[in-house]
Order: sequence, then structure tokens, then C-alpha cells
Amino acid sequence: MSTRAVVLAVGHYTPERVLTNADLEKMVDTSDEWIVQRTGMRERRVCSENETTSTIAIAAAREALERSGLAPEAIDLVVCGTVTGDMWFPSTAAHVQRALGLVNAGAMDVGAACAGFIYSLSVGSAMIEAGHAKRVIVIGADALTKFTDYTDRSTCILFGDGGGALVLEGQENTDRGVLHTVLFCDGNGIPHIDLEVGGSRFPAGSRQAEGRRTKIYMNGNEVYRFAVKAMGDACVRCLEQAGMSADEVDLFVPHQANIRIIESAAKRIGLPDDKVFLNIDKYGNTSGGSIPLGLYEAERTGRLRKGMVVMTVGFGAGLVWGANLIRW
Ligand code: ACO
Repeated sequence: MSTRAVVLAVGHYTPERVLTNADLEKMVDTSDEWIVQRTGMRERRVCSENETTSTIAIAAAREALERSGLAPEAIDLVVCGTVTGDMWFPSTAAHVQRALGLVNAGAMDVGAACAGFIYSLSVGSAMIEAGHAKRVIVIGADALTKFTDYTDRSTCILFGDGGGALVLEGQENTDRGVLHTVLFCDGNGIPHIDLEVGGSRFPAGSRQAEGRRTKIYMNGNEVYRFAVKAMGDACVRCLEQAGMSADEVDLFVPHQANIRIIESAAKRIGLPDDKVFLNIDKYGNTSGGSIPLGLYEAERTGRLRKGMVVMTVGFGAGLVWGANLIRW
């Protein structure tokens, strides 16, 4: 039997500070009722000035490593899905490598916005399946609130900070592990979500950056329309390619961007409500952090147990999207 990337343990981190809908009512022209009805969100976590994406990634990876029982020396690779790294370079994964003393590990970030974890899990598991690594820490972590415009009510209500991490190990003769992944991109969606200043087109502080946006821009309606279709399509394609049916999925842990998007994706696949994991009310959209945070909470609350099939799906700026099927 071929090598599978099996999940040994999961960890998480969310900042202490809570930003409620009532807090947002004081900042922009919005209401708790509007936010709950349109998004399902009630509160989210926000990094302090001293907390960064590496704070989240390191804490989540540390918890996952401790729970796996592995020594730091056993890890071959760290893959961190993030678009809000501490700096453009070095990578956030390098911070994790140093903080945890992963002396034998390579480290890299994967940039796929809110699909960051879907993509980083794909990279980490593929490295194991190809024999290039035996044990990998895969992280999804973002601190979008650092780039959120708190005068724009159409985006500032959505985002929160947080993340999670998995420790994967290559095993043979097992039916557990990452079963299948699908990844997609449609670059025609580039204009719909962006953060203009900071890259090489509009370098921070440069003449080209003058008058350009330094905070997240999003055309919510376009993204919404795309997401409803993309989430459902990715799940259907992933199941088809894996030769599985929706009945075989025990738990659905989607990216927590909007409760209405999640509900329509679940309906399209034919999954009953009790198989859909939701924590959007507590955390909002934590970008690449939302799926591993969901996996962590699902396991800790007993909804996700060894041997169960879990399907994850996410989408984000790019536009990119994808899904993973994992036997836990
Ligand atoms: N409070 C009150 N009213 C608001 C708010 C708010 N916070 N935001 C917008 N409105 C108003 C609008 O101005 C509009 O008013 P009008 O009818 O007078 O013009 C009305 O509410 C309806 O606005 P819509 O934008 O049509 O509202 P919609 O139901 O589409 O919800 C939302 C907006 C929640 C942003 C939704 O479009 C959405 O979730 N989109 C997807 C976003 C997403 O998932 N992004 C993830 C990717 S992010 C990444 O990758 C980094």
C-alpha cells in the first residue's frame, strides 16, 4: 500500500481580545442584527499590537507537536498557509522552525489567502506521499485584522485572527490520512479581493503607492456569488475523484466566511446540518486559520474522532479554492 499522510495531532491559537458585534456598532454604521443575519458572526478574536501571525502559528504548532508526542528533531518540514506573514520575508514558517527548535526541518509559507490551509495541507501531504518528508507540520494562520479598514462596514465586520496546525506522519498499510485534494484558481477574480500596497507593484512608501489602498478591499457580492458555486463544486469534484459519496462524509469543516455560503454548499452536496461544523459565530473569518481551528474544536468537542471521514473546503483571494478529504 502507498504512503499516506496521517494526522497525528492538531493544535490551535486564538488571541484573547474579543471584538463583538456590539463593539462594531460603535465603530461603523451597522447592527448586531444585520451582521448575524447576513454572516452568522457574533464575535471575533483580534491580535494585540504585540501579537502577529507568527504568534498564532508558533502557538498552534507547539500545541500540535506536544500532543503528537514527537520530538522537535523528528519534524522534516513546516508548511505555513498564510497571507499575513510577519514580514514579506523571512517566512512565518521560519519563525516556527526557530521557536520550536525544529533543527532538522525545512520551512516555507504557502500563499493562498483563505484557502491557505487547503493548499498547505496539499503540499505537506504530497511531500510525504512523494517520500521527501516523513513528518510535517502543516499550519493555517492569519491576522487579517492588521489589514482591516475599520471605517469600511462591508469588510470590517467579517475578519478575525487565529489559526491551527496539524502534525502529519507518513504511514503505510493504513486507511487513515489525507485521501484526496483538489485545488483550483481563476485569476480573472484577482480584482475582487486585494491588498494593493506592500508588494512589488506598489512598494510601501514608494511614489507608485501614493493613493493606493493599504487595507483589504473586497467586492463582497462578487465573492459571495463565486463562493457559493466554488465551495459546492470543489466538494463534488473531490468526492468524485476520490470515488466516494457524500454519505461517506462524517463531518464537513468548511472555511468560515459566511454562514449562508456554508449552508448552500452543504445543501448542494446533500449534507445534513448535523454534519456541518460551525464556529463562525465565535471567530468570524480567520482566513487560512479557519479550517484547522475548526478541526481542532471539532476534535476537542468529540465531533471528530479517529477513523471518521472529514471534508474541508475553502476559497479566497485569487480567486483560489479547493477541498481535502481526510480520514482522521
Ligand atoms: N451593516 C449594515 N449594512 C451593511 C453592512 C454592514 N456591516 N455592510 C453592507 N451593508 C449594506 C450595504 O451598504 C447595502 O445597502 P444598500 O442596499 O442600501 O446599498 C446592503 O447592506 C446590502 O449589501 P450587500 O453587500 O448586498 O450585502 P450581502 O448580503 O451581499 O452581504 C457580505 C455582504 C456579508 C460581505 C457578503 O457579500 C459576503 O459574505 N461576501 C463574501 C465575502 C467573503 O467570504 N470573503 C472571503 C474571502 S476574503 C479573503 O480571501 C482574504
